[in-house]
Amino acid sequence: MQYRPITADEVKDFARLMRLAFGDPAAMTEHYTDLLGIEGYRGLFDGDRMVASIGFFDDAHHFAGGAVSTWGVTAVGVDPGTRGRGLSGILLDNSIKEAAAAGPAMLTLYASAPAVYRKIGFERAGKFIAYKGRTAQMASSGSPTGSFRAVDPMAPETRAQLIELHKRWLPLTSGPFERRDTVWTCLLQPYDKHTDVFVWHDDDDAPGAYAILHHTPGKFEVADYCVPTGEAASAMLGFLGGFRAIYSDVTWRGALVDPLIMAMNDRWWETAQHEHWFSRIVDVRKALAQRGYAKGVGGRVALSVEDPVLAQNNGTFGVEVANGTASVETDGDPDGALYLTVQSLVPLFTGLVSASRLAAMGRLDGPREAIDTADLLFTGPTPWMEEQF
Ligand SMILES: CC(C)(COP(=O)(O)OP(=O)(O)OC[C@H]1O[C@@H](n2cnc3c(N)ncnc32)[C@H](O)[C@@H]1OP(=O)(O)O)[C@@H](O)C(=O)NCCC(=O)NCCS
Repeated sequence: MQYRPITADEVKDFARLMRLAFGDPAAMTEHYTDLLGIEGYRGLFDGDRMVASIGFFDDAHHFAGGAVSTWGVTAVGVDPGTRGRGLSGILLDNSIKEAAAAGPAMLTLYASAPAVYRKIGFERAGKFIAYKGRTAQMASSGSPTGSFRAVDPMAPETRAQLIELHKRWLPLTSGPFERRDTVWTCLLQPYDKHTDVFVWHDDDDAPGAYAILHHTPGKFEVADYCVPTGEAASAMLGFLGGFRAIYSDVTWRGALVDPLIMAMNDRWWETAQHEHWFSRIVDVRKALAQRGYAKGVGGRVALSVEDPVLAQNNGTFGVEVANGTASVETDGDPDGALYLTVQSLVPLFTGLVSASRLAAMGRLDGPREAIDTADLLFTGPTPWMEEQF
């Protein structure tokens, strides 16, 4: 079995695997490989036959203002004729080692079969939530301040403006991708959906929010939005309410505490989808050093980590937090440390699960004072992400 990059000549075989794995039309796989390139895809080959695939794209999760270099993982599929023989394990083992050598601190994916990923160190890391609201009631909650202007989704200046607005949102939240080109391209040029982009300008004519709309007949979806202020949230509700003559409902992706929900006057919204994304830390030292920490907290904790796949992740990491950043020493003193696996470190690291809760679950062990310190250092808003891939 050989693990290697998929070449341009092999896109058709890869598309066949994606059709068998997810039902994706070949045209869809070709749309994305044309747009994004084939360089990020790997295959597992039995001779010259592709029997499994995986894809990577480069990005960075934001936690408390720090960007943690991450590869998003997509396109995991095993040929139906060779399933149940451990190929996904071989594929992921190779991928984790490739990532560890290449430089990101972690990997993130959505898991249709969590067992496959959990056994190799992935764990639930944050939330993906899709909300559904009634456009008529949004209209009554919103206020029509400023103006929404349609802009060309394909224009470079549109992308630059969206990036700028999205950057204002990142420090207010925890989990979302910084967004390199891949994510923007997929949002602005999706397969088989019409895309409209509107930028909101406040009463002083300054751009302050945006909405990327994907609509197909009968379905109205905000693929992405950004409302960094209360005024922008209220304007966005009014804007979405303007679609009520045709669309009774709209869906959007949001945080556990979502600014549109917070701005609504009624309770007629619902959760349309709620699941977790999973992450695998491939470089513990780098991950701990790259994430941000709440500015008002400080302290020191030692984490004794066990990783059965990556030798360099084993050991005691001394984490000293001050002024929103951490210095991390390897070869820390294990005396008084918290003991946990690299898998259990994931939800502590992202802030999804506290050290106290992990200890109660039997997934972390150590002295009470160290647990209390870790509770404080890794605290933050519940991690979430807009992207699903
Ligand atoms: C999910 C998938 C990748 C698993 O590949 P595979 O090579 O058949 O899996 P493996 O043989 O390596 O199995 C690894 C382990 O996961 C378990 N597993 C495999 N498929 C599973 C599933 N669908 N649900 C739950 N557990 C599963 C196996 O029982 C095995 O556990 P064990 O070692 O304790 O026996 C494959 O079924 C597939 O391509 N499915 C369709 C596409 C898909 O769902 N991709 C994943 C997207 S995130």
